[in-house]
Amino acid sequence: MATSPPQNPVESHYASRSLVDVVLAALDAAGLPPRLAAADLAPLDQFHARGLEATRELAALAGIDARSRVLDVGCGIGGPSRYLAESLGCKVVGIDLTAEYCRLAEALTARAGLAGTVEFRTADALDLPFGDGEFDRVWTQHVAMNIADRSRLYRELARVLKPGGKLALYDAVAIPGAEPLFPVPWARDSSTSFLLDAEATRAVLEKSGFAIRTWRDATPEAKKWFAALRPPALPPKLGLHLLLGPDFRTMAGNFGRNVIEGRVGLLMAVCQKT
Ligand SMILES: C[S@@+](CC[C@H](N)C(=O)[O-])C[C@H]1O[C@@H](n2cnc3c(N)ncnc32)[C@H](O)[C@@H]1O
Repeated sequence: MATSPPQNPVESHYASRSLVDVVLAALDAAGLPPRLAAADLAPLDQFHARGLEATRELAALAGIDARSRVLDVGCGIGGPSRYLAESLGCKVVGIDLTAEYCRLAEALTARAGLAGTVEFRTADALDLPFGDGEFDRVWTQHVAMNIADRSRLYRELARVLKPGGKLALYDAVAIPGAEPLFPVPWARDSSTSFLLDAEATRAVLEKSGFAIRTWRDATPEAKKWFAALRPPALPPKLGLHLLLGPDFRTMAGNFGRNVIEGRVGLLMAVCQKT
């Protein structure tokens, strides 16, 4: 399928080639059933530290139920969106800057039998194509680190939430005085990495119309998880190398070192629109 060229360096980092045929062929080679469940795709589509386990934890904190209309901002190839729809029965809209990820997200969602429940649109988190107050929950995992203008990001997320609606977030954060090693899974170098430390993140959220309801330093669990990872000698049949290419091994290794060495932290939070 012909694809339009990436528009900016963040999009070029995440998808420099057509991915739909490559990934669908990898699913067949891995012997996955015709109808996919969230757990089948987790090695490939949960694009954040601690994978599906972290998504389950954030979902438990977020208070989502079958009546919730959820917006997944920076949805990647849609793993967390599909997990929420499959396990909680809610309707989810995923948006992502990377057009190729949205195409792949649609193809995987059709294979998961969730096409009527989860939909995807290519869009920038800083300029969401929705009216005010359309969503009960906004969900975002490992996206803000690519976004310099946090004030605009969080104001935009607050705008599309209903009054009293909640933002659930899981992000990498800077550690004051420490420098991350590059490349990492979200950026090849510092030109597209905009980590904020946890306290600065809290201050921008509060100024952008949110009250903090849950605030959890998720670094200790991530340290344990990275320390226990044993990368296989050969790439697995399904994994994030299918999206990011052979450099993914180095990127993931650096993410682990950054967390273990105290250069990067992890934050999980739920904030309510005031
Ligand atoms: C590390 S991936 C995380 C994907 C997904 N949230 C997950 O956890 O599986 C980061 C995603 O953020 C998207 N992204 C980065 N900047 C964005 C922006 N300004 N607007 C929308 N999406 C953005 C990227 O295209 C990429 O798909």
